[in-house]
Amino acid sequence: PKRVRTRHFQNAKEQGISITGLTSYDQLTARIFDQAGIDFLLVGDSAGNNVLGYDTTLPVTVDQLIPLTRAVAQAVTRALVVADMPFGSYEVGPEDALHTAIRFMKETGAHAVKLEGGMRSHKQIKRIVQAGIPVMAHIGFTPQSEHGLGGHIIQGRGAGAEQLLEDAHAVQDAGAFAVVLEMVPAAIAAKVTEQLSIPTIGVGAGPDVDGQLLVWTDFAGMSDGRVPKFVRQYANVRSVLFEAVTQYRQDVASGAYPAPEHSYE
Ligand code: KIV
Ligand code: NA
Repeated sequence: PKRVRTRHFQNAKEQGISITGLTSYDQLTARIFDQAGIDFLLVGDSAGNNVLGYDTTLPVTVDQLIPLTRAVAQAVTRALVVADMPFGSYEVGPEDALHTAIRFMKETGAHAVKLEGGMRSHKQIKRIVQAGIPVMAHIGFTPQSEHGLGGHIIQGRGAGAEQLLEDAHAVQDAGAFAVVLEMVPAAIAAKVTEQLSIPTIGVGAGPDVDGQLLVWTDFAGMSDGRVPKFVRQYANVRSVLFEAVTQYRQDVASGAYPAPEHSYE
């Protein structure tokens, strides 16, 4: 199958075809999601919570994300792979942001980068895009600023709606090819989607957006932690694995595994 390109995102919006995305942090899931026709894979800094064992995304570094991003990029044949720029790797200024984006593009084979922030990241997005690197923007609830925002709080409510619209226009103006809207009321996400010419990708933003994105460990029921209200759990992979592991342990204890067919002559 042909590779998904940024222009396909634009075409999808114009034709009213929904875009689907999932996070991935390794080659096994990347291959499964790619073969199942998911349009883009985000190697999110949510790896901090889901792979690296941190409580937040704040400690995640570029050096930690590069091998994960490379694994995902090498595994896919169709999906567009987006490298997430971690906290501290772009805020200082456009040159810093460009250096980070170049590292991801050179060292991983990703096809685009993502960074958080609307108006505050305008210069960074513009500089990266000028260098020929596609940027996916990310506004609404931005996990890297959870302490500044005062926790996991829905954005774009009340007076926040105006701010969200300004941020959306700022990233479009800076040249982003798409924008993630995280944890915003469905009605305001619909309004942003209607006003922008670039596609909106919702994660907790209701149905009236141009595409959806979920963290794979949430949608597949991998974690035993709390899952946000906006997630539909499509599987309970954790319980499947848990049962398999329990059976394995019992079989080894009872001598049922290995059986003769698992032994070499
Ligand atoms: O890191 C991540 O998984 C993300 C999405 C939730 C938007 O940034
Ligand atoms: Na992220």
